[in-house]
Amino acid sequence: MARAMSETLTIRRPDDWHVHLRDGDMLRHVVGHTARQFARAIVMPNLTPPVARAADAAAYRQRILAALPADADFTPLMTCYLTDATDADDLAAGHADGIFTAAKLYPAGATTNSANGVTDIGNIRDVLERMAEVGMPLCVHGEVTDPEIDVFDREAVFIERVLAPLLRDLPELKVVFEHATTEEAVAFVESARPNVAATITPQHLHINRNAMLVGGIRPHAYCLPVAKREKHRLALRKAATSGSGKFFLGTDSAPHTREAKESGCGCAGIFNAPFALESYLTVFEAEGAIERFEGFASEHGARFYGLPLNEGTVTLQRAPVEVPAELRGVVPFHAGDTLGWRLAG
Ligand code: NCD
Ligand code: ZN
Repeated sequence: MARAMSETLTIRRPDDWHVHLRDGDMLRHVVGHTARQFARAIVMPNLTPPVARAADAAAYRQRILAALPADADFTPLMTCYLTDATDADDLAAGHADGIFTAAKLYPAGATTNSANGVTDIGNIRDVLERMAEVGMPLCVHGEVTDPEIDVFDREAVFIERVLAPLLRDLPELKVVFEHATTEEAVAFVESARPNVAATITPQHLHINRNAMLVGGIRPHAYCLPVAKREKHRLALRKAATSGSGKFFLGTDSAPHTREAKESGCGCAGIFNAPFALESYLTVFEAEGAIERFEGFASEHGARFYGLPLNEGTVTLQRAPVEVPAELRGVVPFHAGDTLGWRLAG
């Protein structure tokens, strides 16, 4: 508690275990924000066309490194976009060569640029078996795409229909349940074996679905999986701040231009990279759990992935920071708000 009252918080350098860095101009606009906040990040592969083979990931990694500010000290960790046609040998070789840190399962049609995703998990059975064998983590977008299922229920139904059976068949498979948004996901991950963990975004700790729908439709609060009822937000806050090594930081920062968000058919995704640590820390402080922030931000993820903890530290100062209304054509999370912490440097 003494630490909670102090004016600064210094923690080991953190990592972001789920980020969309995009490509081209958008990559150059956004990568510096992530590199300023984090030492490493799991980079999502949903480009068009997707990052599906080891050679694609090696080339994308080069483009990310080339787009970094000169003084950046940042390591992108690459992922493979699984499709019905993923070649288990290419995937395993990419993992062995240190190109692929993990693979990402997008159910086809679940979210932005998921059209090439997996249409039936049975189609990649050989790939998943190989991943379990070699200890390669599977990052999961946990939503079914069945048109009969209500969008607010798609995560819970995915657990029941897809994830629970998958883990019964392949109990050794390392799974990260990405951007958990429900109490069902929290309960599932908590009761699963140690090889199952989850990332939690800042937005799902801050907002429930009212933020999107009350007083007018607010496209900048729309992401997938969509924010749920308040009881789910409370379950996520409890999990994130619990100290459990099964829950760790993954921003799901997903920039889209203002025009792409403010549209008759707006894109899903919240751009939270610029003030991600400040945003999370606000939650930990409100929950009286500042002393557990370092585990969530800087330790649990690395331990789960079997990677070394980062050297060095970052310091957050208790000071007001105003979040701009827009950053180069993209509206950030908390736009126009004042947060109570500022990342130094
Ligand atoms: C992500 C994107 O825009 O790439 N959007 C989102 O709402 N989170 C895709 C994803 O992670 O689902
Ligand atoms: Zn994402």
